[in-house]
Amino acid sequence: MRISDRPIAVQLAELGVELIPGVSLVDKTSLGIGGTTDQLNLRKFETIPDVIRLLKQDGILHKFLGGGSNLLVADGELSFVVLHLPTSQPGMHVEGTVAYVDAAADLGGTVTFCAKRDLGGMEGLIGVPGSIGGALRMNAGAYGTQIGTHVREVELYRAATGRIEKLEGNDIRFDYRHTSFAPDDLMLRVKLELPSKPFKEILAGIKVCNEKRRSSQPLNQKSAGCIFKNPQGGSAGRMIDELGLKGHHVGDATVSDRHANFFVNKGNASCSEMLQLIDDVRERVRKAYGVDLENEVIVWKN
Ligand code: EPU
Repeated sequence: MRISDRPIAVQLAELGVELIPGVSLVDKTSLGIGGTTDQLNLRKFETIPDVIRLLKQDGILHKFLGGGSNLLVADGELSFVVLHLPTSQPGMHVEGTVAYVDAAADLGGTVTFCAKRDLGGMEGLIGVPGSIGGALRMNAGAYGTQIGTHVREVELYRAATGRIEKLEGNDIRFDYRHTSFAPDDLMLRVKLELPSKPFKEILAGIKVCNEKRRSSQPLNQKSAGCIFKNPQGGSAGRMIDELGLKGHHVGDATVSDRHANFFVNKGNASCSEMLQLIDDVRERVRKAYGVDLENEVIVWKN
């Protein structure tokens, strides 16, 4: 969607929004798949309600783009613009055992920043790509750590009220790869409370997780991490592997031969090829195991 030649572009500029026309989401997502649209960089949280109001008035659809690491975006000219949040550098600070972090900050960078200040508890999250906002929304987890465990407060924009609000950690439900946030809530900042631990000890934990990840996941290929959530008590990766589907592909969209729940883009995979592969694998698992796998990857359809 192109809005740079519309009157709204001037009003957005007055709100300090930077408009970048014709951005390819191929370059903004870890899968390297996606169409083209205008990107709006928001410079101040305070302007978000006004920006959204303007877009609504003009009937312009929008989506929020975080780190782009768990996303499968439609091909071609997109029917929505993407909004991107600001982050100051480094986007985080620590007071005692509490870390205040901007949603746009990098998750791995946050783990390291806190570790250097002797705050641990997030070792398992070190290699998980993406932003703090994306991690919060889906309660990202790995190797026994889930970010939700440490959340004490979230500042967010609620589309339902059109206002910026604060939620106490206790008022948010964090389940396996699921939270009680509304789909159109936008994370802005988080307050994390973390256990004190000597840096050396945290570093040792980080090394163990990095090694496990390197030995089992296709880290040097374009992917969105695991495509499916694990079913209760089971492993999507193991089931897909048992069905002999490693290497199975639709065009360049391929089931990784390293970890079967990672679907990789081996070159120029399109969204529709990746969706076909996802549906095909889901159907085969359903037939063989009677299990209906739920997407972990978020799909932005046109
Ligand atoms: N397995 C296979 N073949 C495969 C992949 C896995 O047999 O191709 C077996 C493994 O040998 C193991 C079991 O399945 O016995 C589980 O595998 P793994 O330890 O790799 O964990 P996972 O359940 O597949 C989850 C998360 C990962 C996270 C790891 C480590 C989900 C959907 N995935 O993977 O998170 O990094 O545990 O904690 O919950 C992600 O969410 O994107 C992600 C990568």
